[in-house]
Amino acid sequence: MRLLERQDQLAEIERRLHEARAGSGKLVLVAGEAGVGKSSLVERFVAEHARDARALWGACDAHATPRALGPVQEVAAQLPSIANSGTRADESRDPLFRALLAELARPERASIVVLEDLHWADEATVDFFRFIGRRIQRTSALFLATYRDDELSMTHPVRLALGELTGEHVIRLHLAPLSRASVEELAKDSGRDAALLYQVTGGNPFFVREALASPGQQVPETVRDAVIARLARCTAATRELAELVSMLPGKTEAWVIESVLGPRQAAVDEGIARGVLLMYGEALGFRHELARLAVHSTLAPEHARAMHQRVLQALVEHGADLTQLVHHAALANNAGAVLEYAPLAGKEASRLGAHREAAAHFGAALRYSASLSGASQAELFELHVRECSFSNQTTA
Ligand SMILES: Nc1ncnc2c1ncn2[C@@H]1O[C@H](COP(=O)(O)OP(=O)(O)OP(=O)(O)O)[C@@H](O)[C@H]1O
Ligand SMILES: [Mg+2]
Repeated sequence: MRLLERQDQLAEIERRLHEARAGSGKLVLVAGEAGVGKSSLVERFVAEHARDARALWGACDAHATPRALGPVQEVAAQLPSIANSGTRADESRDPLFRALLAELARPERASIVVLEDLHWADEATVDFFRFIGRRIQRTSALFLATYRDDELSMTHPVRLALGELTGEHVIRLHLAPLSRASVEELAKDSGRDAALLYQVTGGNPFFVREALASPGQQVPETVRDAVIARLARCTAATRELAELVSMLPGKTEAWVIESVLGPRQAAVDEGIARGVLLMYGEALGFRHELARLAVHSTLAPEHARAMHQRVLQALVEHGADLTQLVHHAALANNAGAVLEYAPLAGKEASRLGAHREAAAHFGAALRYSASLSGASQAELFELHVRECSFSNQTTA
């Protein structure tokens, strides 16, 4: 796929990689609105420099309350020296942070570390980002962090961390939507009205590509229209599959599909052939998070609630991560499950220093606590208040 209007940024990142390889590590912050092309830029850069440095990937997740330290653990799992040494964040995360820093500082091995979607980061991951960001110049690493700058509130921990990270080893790249000329170029052989396409999409590459891929000659008015028009051409079985996949942030493992819907190979094949879904290893996902949200927004609330309950059941049977269980338990409005998993998830998040997320988990449990004894409610309340105070939040 051709990346338009990104040559300057690719050249800039390349310069920074050379500096990092020479022992002066760099942190490059890639910001821009959803769908503007941050991931595409970073993926292209890493693909072009696969030989120059080892690439390590970590992605923040879009769960209502993200998994504490999720992306950091993901990066650690890609480093045999750490993964095999048993350095985990079980008791304290400091040994893990220091082990990762030591790996990135090895002069004989340059690294490109990609931390995707920082706007979803949990507080412990933000601490890691700050920890590495302050020491980056002493490593041989190019650290690439992507985030939607328009989705960070003034008090978001990521925004505060970004404000603190300054100096010549921190480089900020802001990606703008495509120009009218580039949109015209993309629309060239489509038979669509390029001027209208530019006007409707504002040059957002994701929207432009979805609009061009939607059936017919009309320019869809919203991203949702474009995505739904494509899905509408699929069979009922494929639409049902896409609905299920839309319920899980990130990717949907094959065993979830099998457990909730039964065998669906024909639907999987059709979804992929129609460009709605993609295989990511063994898992199925949308081509983009924005497409997932578009499909999810079409589900009737009662149906969504029942489906989240079925997903929850599958995840419980498979022993899935606690944050996933809380996410689906809350969306299924399953009080018993929220009360079972949210306090456990809160304690885990707290132990890892993700106090904002811990507060969210205890807060979720409190909302469903009417059936609990006064003593249990008081305990939850205390935990909630304590985590709020650690993360400088009000309890309101
Ligand atoms: N420079 C570009 N030229 C042409 N098409 C592009 C360009 N950048 C991105 N695209 C298209 O737009 C889609 C969305 O881009 P991408 O996923 O990189 O956005 P993003 O900024 O990472 O979004 P998000 O914030 O949701 O993660 C890509 O799948 C690709 O098809
Ligand atoms: Mg992205």
